[in-house]
Amino acid sequence: MRGWMGKFRTFFLFGALTLVLSGCGIDNLSALKPKGYGSDLLFDLMMISIAIMLFVFVIVMAIYTFVLIRYRQKKGQEDFIPKQTEGNKALEVIWTVIPIILLLVLAVPTVQATFDLADESTKGDDGVTTIEVTGNQFWWHFSYPDDEISTSQDLYIPTGERVYLDMKSSDVIHSFWVPSIAGKMDTNPGDNDNTMYLEAYEEGVYWGKCAELCGESHSLMDFRVIAVSPDEYDQWKEDMQNVDPEAEAETADAQEGQDLFEDSCMGCHAIGDGAAGQGPNLTNFANRTKIAGILEPNKENLVDWIVNPEEVKPGNQMPANLVSEDEASQIAEYLMELDHSDVGSNASSEEVEDE
Ligand code: CUA
Repeated sequence: MRGWMGKFRTFFLFGALTLVLSGCGIDNLSALKPKGYGSDLLFDLMMISIAIMLFVFVIVMAIYTFVLIRYRQKKGQEDFIPKQTEGNKALEVIWTVIPIILLLVLAVPTVQATFDLADESTKGDDGVTTIEVTGNQFWWHFSYPDDEISTSQDLYIPTGERVYLDMKSSDVIHSFWVPSIAGKMDTNPGDNDNTMYLEAYEEGVYWGKCAELCGESHSLMDFRVIAVSPDEYDQWKEDMQNVDPEAEAETADAQEGQDLFEDSCMGCHAIGDGAAGQGPNLTNFANRTKIAGILEPNKENLVDWIVNPEEVKPGNQMPANLVSEDEASQIAEYLMELDHSDVGSNASSEEVEDE
């Protein structure tokens, strides 16, 4: 069965691949749609290298095709042997020099970008934000030491300015990656801190991923970067600083939940700027874009997560069955009331739409 179908098999294969891969172009999760300074630089580098590769490909294919046609065996010349040559200085020089030039064309902007992305010249200056980022299995802690704010999973930054990140890990190596804003940076355990910066051009909710295999739930170690206008950012900081961790919950169920939370959860979690233990700081929890970084933020999902976290994120540190389902429901009531700031509060609904 070698009809026209067989001949076009490769074509179909590539067609199908194109369809499948086009799903990778989710907005705000794509290095191919840069929305920040770092990703812009990297995108330009990708374009330069693709242009160089295309140039080489076209030239080589042109020469190849020419030789195939021009020097194929002709009728009546079956025994013809062409003139045998050995070495050609001019050719040797040409195909040594051209690749060197191409590599230089690629190397100069690459080295420039490398130094540019490692620049820390404004770090520590007045009005320049530095945020401490800690990778944990399998979530991210963010603290703003100058503003005495601690939070997790949703990283708030102002647009249009450079924000530095001091990065480390509490356990194994993770890698912090927000493809549409910047490149990757490893977070290491111990004293081996890394620094990078983010600069988002526009407001938006940007997907972040852990890009270093770090355990069972590595692929679920998602987070978000929420870029808001500088005014909104100041408002957010004020809201976060005004959080009263002991403020009493409103409904009766939530009050029960608050007591349960204090008894069962505060050993690991915290609300406000108080130091959290092993678990994420839950300030402004009701405003988070996701539960545990991956679930839609609703009460049902939250109860599922509290009762059986292992099913949602295998290998995570939160103990299962710490509370009953009814108790989890009350705790969820309480957590869903922790709406400490309106800034970015519709972030979950406006995020990531396929184009
Ligand atoms: Cu953390 Cu992969």
